[in-house]
Amino acid sequence: MPRPGEPDYYRSRARAEGYVARAVYKLKEVDEKYHLIKPGQRVLDLGCSPGSWLQYIASRVGPGGLVVGVDAAPLAIEAVPPLYFVQGEITSLDLETIMSLSPMFDVVVSDLAPKTTGMRQVDQQRSLELASLAWEWARRLLREGGHFLVKVFEGPDTPALAAVLKQNFSLCRPIKPAGSRPASRETLVHFVNFDRANPPAPFPATVRKQFSGPVKSVNWLSPDGDEPLALSFRETGERLTFTTPPLKRYAMIVIAQ
Ligand SMILES: C[S@@+](CC[C@H](N)C(=O)[O-])C[C@H]1O[C@@H](n2cnc3c(N)ncnc32)[C@H](O)[C@@H]1O
Repeated sequence: MPRPGEPDYYRSRARAEGYVARAVYKLKEVDEKYHLIKPGQRVLDLGCSPGSWLQYIASRVGPGGLVVGVDAAPLAIEAVPPLYFVQGEITSLDLETIMSLSPMFDVVVSDLAPKTTGMRQVDQQRSLELASLAWEWARRLLREGGHFLVKVFEGPDTPALAAVLKQNFSLCRPIKPAGSRPASRETLVHFVNFDRANPPAPFPATVRKQFSGPVKSVNWLSPDGDEPLALSFRETGERLTFTTPPLKRYAMIVIAQ
């Protein structure tokens, strides 16, 4: 990472080329290498502010395409068709709002990132949670054969998430783009050719504990009224991790102490 006062090549280049963030070069690199975005496509961009990925995607899909950006923070660019912006928390988004713009997308990208604390494990965990949420949206809204590109801060739990998602795609490619700051542990993972016919993959869930004392059991209650299912779980410090069956629209997890 450049020291204060040192020029940052990608920032200067972004300014010169009219992009609102240096982040654009990560997406551009993946696209130029793997042909992610094509003219006329519909693309969903999660965690899109200030908007450099949107600027790039809109130029690639052209007037016959569609780009929908979602972020809790406002954009630093104007949303002009084919670009649409939905401001909101990824956790409380309404599927219908997105589907009213397009019922299905060819590509879903996520550059969602938590506000970093400087504590590596905490930042990794938050990034993984955002990546999992992005996958929740992608698996509902991606068309058969679509692509999913997601950013995650590498950590011990990253391979587990990648392994789960891989079941729904024909290829999974981790990419460390040149545009990433050298000190950053962020990776982009490119999932190719979504298989909608595959049942939704089981989902590794993590709860940051709000209670004290050991946990006795974790049970899954399906919305279909099936028998409660006891899940195996792992407690590490403040975290409780377990894998759920394939997610439906909602379900209840009962944690007993
Ligand atoms: C690295 S920035 C994205 C940069 C963007 N790709 C660009 O090119 O301009 C990460 C974004 O994730 C958003 N974000 C983080 N957590 C979020 C959440 N829970 N809901 C919605 N947006 C979130 C932040 O507001 C931030 O704008």
